[in-house]
Amino acid sequence: MPATSLDQIVALAKRRGFIFPSSEIYGGLQGVYDYGPLGVELKNNIIADWWRTNVYERDDMEGLDAAILMNRLVWKYSGHEETFNDPLVDCRTCKMRWRADHIHGVCPNCGSRDLTEPRPFNMMFRTQIGPVADSGSFAYLRPETAQGIFVNFANVLTTTARKLPFGIAQVGKAFRNEINPRNFLFRVREFEQMEIEYFVMPGTDEEWHQRWLEDRLKWWEQIGIPRSRITIYDVPADELAHYSKRTFDLMYDYPNIGVQEIEGIANRTDYDLGSHSKDQDQLNLTARVNHNEDSIARLTYFDQASGRHLVPYVIEPSAGVGRCMLAVLCEGYAEELTKAPPAERLAAVGEALQSFLKSVGRNEKLSGEARDAILARGQELAQALTERLPEVEQLLAMPGADQIEVGKKLRGQAQPLIDEHYRTVLRLKPRLAPIKVAVFPLKRNHDQLVATAKAVRRQLQTGGEMRTIYDDTGAIGKLYRRQDEIGTPFCITVDFDTIGQGKDPALAGTVTVRDRDTMTQERVPIAELEGYLREKVRG
Ligand code: GAP
Repeated sequence: MPATSLDQIVALAKRRGFIFPSSEIYGGLQGVYDYGPLGVELKNNIIADWWRTNVYERDDMEGLDAAILMNRLVWKYSGHEETFNDPLVDCRTCKMRWRADHIHGVCPNCGSRDLTEPRPFNMMFRTQIGPVADSGSFAYLRPETAQGIFVNFANVLTTTARKLPFGIAQVGKAFRNEINPRNFLFRVREFEQMEIEYFVMPGTDEEWHQRWLEDRLKWWEQIGIPRSRITIYDVPADELAHYSKRTFDLMYDYPNIGVQEIEGIANRTDYDLGSHSKDQDQLNLTARVNHNEDSIARLTYFDQASGRHLVPYVIEPSAGVGRCMLAVLCEGYAEELTKAPPAERLAAVGEALQSFLKSVGRNEKLSGEARDAILARGQELAQALTERLPEVEQLLAMPGADQIEVGKKLRGQAQPLIDEHYRTVLRLKPRLAPIKVAVFPLKRNHDQLVATAKAVRRQLQTGGEMRTIYDDTGAIGKLYRRQDEIGTPFCITVDFDTIGQGKDPALAGTVTVRDRDTMTQERVPIAELEGYLREKVRG
């Protein structure tokens, strides 16, 4: 079962070093996050997989890495200066600011309905270029990577001699001054996008739009988000972005956040290339564009068959790396029973849970809202305690729960049982796992075991394809759990048999390889390890 609550993912991400709040030691920065040692590996693996699938494994794609800072005119003619706005309202009672379409007329902070009329708020960040701060020296941080592709269309076309249809892929940072960043990585102010602008002959755009929809669904499946978990939202005309003729939003059901966009696949028509071109009246554009007096180029394509210069249409699949990572973590997350806990110990936890809930019900210092939320969650848990025991931790982390004294007893009863009988596992596709292989010596104070384990680690790491780590900081069972929790698909143990000092001489030179998902172990000769694992970690 995927994660049932965003808190599970936030806690894991912090505990194990996937994600940290930015500038945390100074109180953080709202809507901005840092990727820790495991987060950066997972993020890089997602990007590499996207690039491999969309650039290397196709014959019709090129890559690009355009700068974040661009001439301000790019954003004038793209339409962003005028239309890249969200509706902003102020609460007159508590003075908080909100995005009008997120709050249904009620201030989420104080409950007041006394709100100002919505007014447009442009989401582009401004910065200053050069030492003189005047009206001509400011630039924007790009709010999408797409424009870097459009303004380089002619450069790529002339240097690669591509014929339509072809696409340009780019991965890079984008910045949006979101009014209310929230929901962890879901809505942030600095994020990365993986974007494709795919240029096609006008008239073939609708067919290519469908083809990209199918291709993109296949990729999501490949990285662990099954087709059944994605809903396709055919965006209605009144919700379309200013450049779009039609957009399919791929929607994922995030815990707590709900069904939300993970990728947009838009038909941008000839809007962008047309907007950035000179001599627009000679280009037979179908889109309504801003009249351009500044561009020095016609962003057209010479079609040899018809002998005409035309402006291609564009299909744009655009996905956020952070939203992708969040979905991958939610989808892969599971808390599961490894062996049944003794009935009497489970019954004792059940009793402690009931006393905790009684105490919550009687506590007058808790707000009604906090009390109801804790009671609802606790009763749900009580009904399936064997399967859901690890959720006691989230119950006790709910707002107000720390005020309940008997919570300590509940934690004391539950924690050892959770540690011994349950595991948290991230069932990531091996190709995405931050660490592919972990190598342990059976004893850390045994020179030969340690040296052999370190040699195995070095051997596996040398090829560069499999991030392999060595760990000897705990008992083997504990080390397995630690790797399960971060999604490492394979753990290797070097034991006395490996070094020829065990019971079975035939096992000399072999190690045990434990599979994360099945928890089964197999004996594999060290000489064959690399080949054995390489195939599997590509999966
Ligand atoms: N070039 C088209 C474009 O930027 P978009 O729907 O605004 O379209 C594309 O953004 C993707 O970027 C979204 O599907 C989402 O995955 C990601 N994204 C957009 N705003 C985001 C934000 N504030 N935080 C995290 N990801 C965001």
